[in-house]
Amino acid sequence: MYRVLKKERLTPSAVLIEVEDERAKLVKPGQYALVQFKEDSEPIPLSFLHVKENSYTFLVEAVGRATLEITELLEEGFNFIEAPCGSPFPVKEYGRVLLVSKNWGIAPLINVGKALKEKNNEVYFIHVGENEEKVFLTEEASEISEEFLLFTEDGSLGEEGNTEWALRFFLENFPKPDLVVSAGSNIDSQMVCEVAKEKGLNHIAMVNAHILDANGLCLACRVLVEGEEKLACLDGPWFDGKKVNWDYAIQKEFFYRDEEKKALEAFMKELRRIKAKRGS
Ligand SMILES: Cc1cc2nc3c(=O)[nH]c(=O)nc-3n(C[C@H](O)[C@H](O)[C@H](O)COP(=O)(O)OP(=O)(O)OC[C@H]3O[C@@H](n4cnc5c(N)ncnc54)[C@H](O)[C@@H]3O)c2cc1C
Ligand code: FES
Repeated sequence: MYRVLKKERLTPSAVLIEVEDERAKLVKPGQYALVQFKEDSEPIPLSFLHVKENSYTFLVEAVGRATLEITELLEEGFNFIEAPCGSPFPVKEYGRVLLVSKNWGIAPLINVGKALKEKNNEVYFIHVGENEEKVFLTEEASEISEEFLLFTEDGSLGEEGNTEWALRFFLENFPKPDLVVSAGSNIDSQMVCEVAKEKGLNHIAMVNAHILDANGLCLACRVLVEGEEKLACLDGPWFDGKKVNWDYAIQKEFFYRDEEKKALEAFMKELRRIKAKRGS
């Protein structure tokens, strides 16, 4: 078992979890772990947010069964963790870098943003939350950036606006970035990609694919990059945004939507029973 050292609730649907693991010293910026709560839970990818000598921290946003199990029920530890996984982010001297996160995407971008800042890049940060529940870690994001701009799609916190609107606002009011990096949603990264193409900006994006084994065996995480099949688990999750076939990635992401909905409904019933038993 991988022991949980600390669990902290940030919003009703998001928690921070620190896990003890000596493999933490092997983690490079932008990598992720494949985590499984219980033996019968679905393994899912989570990005490293903070990394220490013998532990690391994840931000977990509940969106379906596996993430809800972790945010609601995880106490002592994870049954299984494969770490570190994926290719690190290419940390170089780009100059001025704009980070654009959607919801949980703020976690990998804080991790990558710190490394970019240490490499003498000037970091700017935009976070777009679906609503105020999807706004977290904003102080930390501001600390690493020259300017931090907060938007929510429903206007419940910060300025009202979606990712495209926020990016266009930035480009009209701040100096032109040498690189834009996005994470947290394929749909939002596709918006960033369209604006990047229009304005001639470099763009690196985290592609969300179903990652089941993280070792290249199941092929579930295939994505198309310049027409060639790549594995998001090993070659990614970071790709040149302008080379990614976003329509293909988005279509694959929603392929299991009915099954995911059924799994969540069944788990909600189980969770109500567990909570009633505990009296919470
Ligand atoms: C490289 C990478 C890093 C990520 N980092 C974080 C993070 O730091 N914090 C965080 O909260 N979330 C992160 N995610 C997203 C997280 O893995 C999904 O939200 C989670 O897998 C959803 O599982 P579920 O059962 O709760 O929801 P489901 O109802 O099963 O799915 C909800 C959504 O998540 C996607 N999804 C489902 N299963 C998987 C899977 N095995 N792999 C990838 N996507 C899946 C589905 O396409 C769907 O869009 C990351 C995803 C990737 C690909
Ligand atoms: S997750 Fe199985 S090959 Fe990438």
